[in-house]
Amino acid sequence: MQFIVKGKASGKIVKSLEITRDDFELNLMDFLLRNSIPVASSCAGVGICKKCTTASGLLSCSLALYDYINLFGATIEFDYL
Ligand code: FES
Repeated sequence: MQFIVKGKASGKIVKSLEITRDDFELNLMDFLLRNSIPVASSCAGVGICKKCTTASGLLSCSLALYDYINLFGATIEFDYL
């Protein structure tokens, strides 16, 4: 399964990531960081800085990759990419 990362600023697909079974154990932020997608953070994923917010308004550090895909599908969009 592929996970598509889109940039709102660029209007392009930034990356297409292969999702492995182990990735479903990760939160969205950790999955993106492991795949070299920059995610802003000043609280290291504690959930208080709100810098990791996605274009859909969710905190990527507080949402499991599996849950994100079930809610929104395998595509994510970031304002700053
Ligand atoms: S990394 Fe700070 S709220 Fe998500």
